[in-house]
Amino acid sequence: MQKIIFDTDIGVDDAFALAYAAKSMDILGVTTVFGNVPVEQAVSNARLFSQKIGLDVPIYRGSSRPLALAPSAPAWDVHGADGLGGVFDNPWNGAADNAIHFIINSVRAHPDELTLVAIGPLTNIALAINQAPDIVPQIKQLVIMGGAFGTLGNSGNVTPFAEFNIWKDPHAADQVLNSALPVVVLPLDVTHRVRVSGDDIRALRHPVLEAISRSYLQYSLEKEGVEGMALHDTLTIAWLNHPSWFGITESPVRVVTDGISRGQTLRQLNSVASCDDPFAGCRVQKLCLSVEAEKVKKHFLDTLRR
Ligand code: RIB
Ligand code: CA
Repeated sequence: MQKIIFDTDIGVDDAFALAYAAKSMDILGVTTVFGNVPVEQAVSNARLFSQKIGLDVPIYRGSSRPLALAPSAPAWDVHGADGLGGVFDNPWNGAADNAIHFIINSVRAHPDELTLVAIGPLTNIALAINQAPDIVPQIKQLVIMGGAFGTLGNSGNVTPFAEFNIWKDPHAADQVLNSALPVVVLPLDVTHRVRVSGDDIRALRHPVLEAISRSYLQYSLEKEGVEGMALHDTLTIAWLNHPSWFGITESPVRVVTDGISRGQTLRQLNSVASCDDPFAGCRVQKLCLSVEAEKVKKHFLDTLRR
């Protein structure tokens, strides 16, 4: 099994991804970050959800705010009052050991073995590689849900230009995507294409997933006008399980950090001989811009039924 650290701003689709990862990955720890919910709530949600699915995994507390920008509102409208559909009393508190130290110490203890899976803002990843640059060459890969490159009209979900995770901390995203880290990006271009309906979820006979997804399904219908919730974060684990089901485009990526297109992810579409090339010296990353959606959906549902 692949060793991973699961870095999350745990809302509903994050929880679906964690339930899927629990069946197919060796999860060393769950690190939490602000995003869908405040980080304290993310600690509580990670503890509560792991306990409810019988996953014994240590939970760590990460950053409560972006590197440089002022904090912005959580996504209560999408993920419900507590980030998990507002269906459980959440008796846990937000106290936990430091996520950044855990990431650094884990990479040093497992050189070249560890995949970081980041499905919220990239703040924790940026803080870890800034505090301990020595770990960068020892990280096997970073797999993220984030960004949008405009294929099939998928250019943004929090603004017309930007995807939520990147928009929440564009400075962290630009730093991480332009570090020496090998990054695999699962953007909206593919994550909007894999959806599960209420019937699909009920057929899993998984009362926890059924309960927490009610509000997210309602949001998808009312606000996105589509039947079924986008699995988003789950596609990071699907890529790790079956990379051949994804079409990869290789390109450096830059992130707009302010103005009307804050959080926009830009790939290199042509090479101009200008002296001011924002892609100069940037690492080429792997962008998943196509997906065999039905195969991913079937594997996800079959795995959760096991
Ligand atoms: O844009 C979708 C992403 O933002 C997902 O990770 C979702 O959980 C939210 O964090
Ligand atoms: Ca997320």
